[in-house]
Amino acid sequence: MISEEKKLFDSRLNRHRDELKWLYMELYDSDEWYKCLEEGLWRFYKERNAALREMDLEREANPDWYRKNDMLGMMLYVDNFAGNLKGVKEKLPYLEKAGINYVHLMPLLESPKGRSDGGYAVADFRKVQPELGTMEDLAALTEKCHQKGISVCLDFVMNHTSEEHEWARKARQGDKKYQDCYFFFDGFTVPALYEKTVPQVFPTTAPGNFTWLPQCGKYVMTTFYPYQWDLNYRNPMVFQEMMFHFLFLANQGIDILRIDAVPYIWKELGTNCRNLPRVHSIVRMMRMITEIVCPGVLLLGEVVMEPEKVVPYFGTVEKPECHMLYNVTTMATIWHTVASHDVCLLKKQLDTLCALPGDYVFLNYLRCHDDIGWGLDYASLWKERMQAEIPHKKFLNDYFRGCFPGSVSSGELYNDDPVTQDARFCGTTASMCGIEKALAKKDEKMLASAIDLDIMLHAFMLMQSGIPMLYSGDEVAQLNDWSYREEPEKRDDSRYIHRGKFDWEAAKKAEDPDTVQGKVFTRLKVLEEIRRKEAVFEGSAAAWTIQTWEPAVLCMARADGRDKLIGIYNFSPEEKMAWIDEKGSYTDLVTGETGPASGVRMPGYGFRWLKQQL
Ligand code: GLC
Repeated sequence: MISEEKKLFDSRLNRHRDELKWLYMELYDSDEWYKCLEEGLWRFYKERNAALREMDLEREANPDWYRKNDMLGMMLYVDNFAGNLKGVKEKLPYLEKAGINYVHLMPLLESPKGRSDGGYAVADFRKVQPELGTMEDLAALTEKCHQKGISVCLDFVMNHTSEEHEWARKARQGDKKYQDCYFFFDGFTVPALYEKTVPQVFPTTAPGNFTWLPQCGKYVMTTFYPYQWDLNYRNPMVFQEMMFHFLFLANQGIDILRIDAVPYIWKELGTNCRNLPRVHSIVRMMRMITEIVCPGVLLLGEVVMEPEKVVPYFGTVEKPECHMLYNVTTMATIWHTVASHDVCLLKKQLDTLCALPGDYVFLNYLRCHDDIGWGLDYASLWKERMQAEIPHKKFLNDYFRGCFPGSVSSGELYNDDPVTQDARFCGTTASMCGIEKALAKKDEKMLASAIDLDIMLHAFMLMQSGIPMLYSGDEVAQLNDWSYREEPEKRDDSRYIHRGKFDWEAAKKAEDPDTVQGKVFTRLKVLEEIRRKEAVFEGSAAAWTIQTWEPAVLCMARADGRDKLIGIYNFSPEEKMAWIDEKGSYTDLVTGETGPASGVRMPGYGFRWLKQQL
């Protein structure tokens, strides 16, 4: 007799088997390996606990569960936030108070000290970094989160392993089987060919894409740091074992797996080794594997690329790939707009996004653990008669370092490459908005303006379709942490400037509306609650932009058939008028005042959320 669980598994498998096998055979052409994969899927399905299977069924029945306007995310480092996993469990009430129901725990798997790239060099995919706890602690935390209605996201670093991973160690000792899990070369002839076409991710902190291994006298491909060895997905063993690690993590109760650096996972000589067609075959297979074994789990693709490269990672309606992607271009364009006080490029970016199918879910954010790369639509900038790419990047970096007249921002350059002159930028939202400088100068007026900018940017982020994601500390205006410069393991990587310890003393002040923390925390809370209450913020609500005839003021609208929402954002510190031509009377969702939405006076860095019943 076939059990109920097997029947359910089979029905999910049968839905995808043709396509899964087809894609698999195209890459690996091996019935034997394919059989092992299917057997593994069944094993992981059986190991999935009853509560998670229950959740799978609920989410299958309600596939839009993550598309509502009630999601609010936060990404945090376990050690910075609460010391270890048990600590995070104790601090859940704080997250609840902040309205968070989706928490991204930054990399927490075993990773060698000082050679970890912030945890993105994984030595063991099934073991938690000992200082942070154990796998049992992780499963206990996810269970607790689920009880509180919080979803948990974890990174799945699939492009590479640490040089201390078991495979890497065996490969270094000369074992061919494990060398084949990576890209090994006897001499530099082939690597030199790759170097001709493959750009560099960390041109100053980790130049080149290959690393010499004296112990075995070979080169290994290392796109990121020299201690992060690129995995070779042409090898069926790599694909299979990595998929099993992925399912293992899903079975610890992880709801969202962030597939790290996914555009890089397939390499081909003569190409830039980014976004190759095979990457999409692999992501599509991962999506099917997820739907077969753990259909409640979501895939979040980390695709930090130019706009036309990002959207294909959603796949198609019939063949979806990622459930969610980062809204990276909007993020970079927001900061460009802060510096330029000119909304034309941001408006254009929104027009592009608004034209996409409403069921694409973007993760909207202002800052994250990484640097800001100035990946803007330079062709459009050029048309608007702004500067060319290199001088414009220099302007942005000068602006945010506070070296430009009128700028009150502070932060650091990242990977300032003298060859491409393509420096990126690091800093916290609050410091980039000028809160740090204003506090240092004890300038109340400057401080109020910086806080207004910080809140206005969050309001803008909250109005976008998708899931808003806060970077831990931003809810209490956490400043840059310059102490990283004194720590030998961190000082070469300026991303640590915005990876400081969470300041619990400062967080206590969130209760006091006279403090900076209190002002930011309470104003954000009001906006988040409005977002949660008003259906017009849902992903399915239409979105479009409106001309304001004022270069520094952006206007965006959303409508869901019942209500219309007009959001107006002043990116200038000066007062401006927004000349929009919207008929009838509107209610300001923040102040409750009513009035027309035609000539709207906008204070410096002010914003309005104006609602009208349709
Ligand atoms: C991703 C991470 C980044 C890391 C890189 C290599 O881009 O966000 O922090 O350095 O992958 O794993």
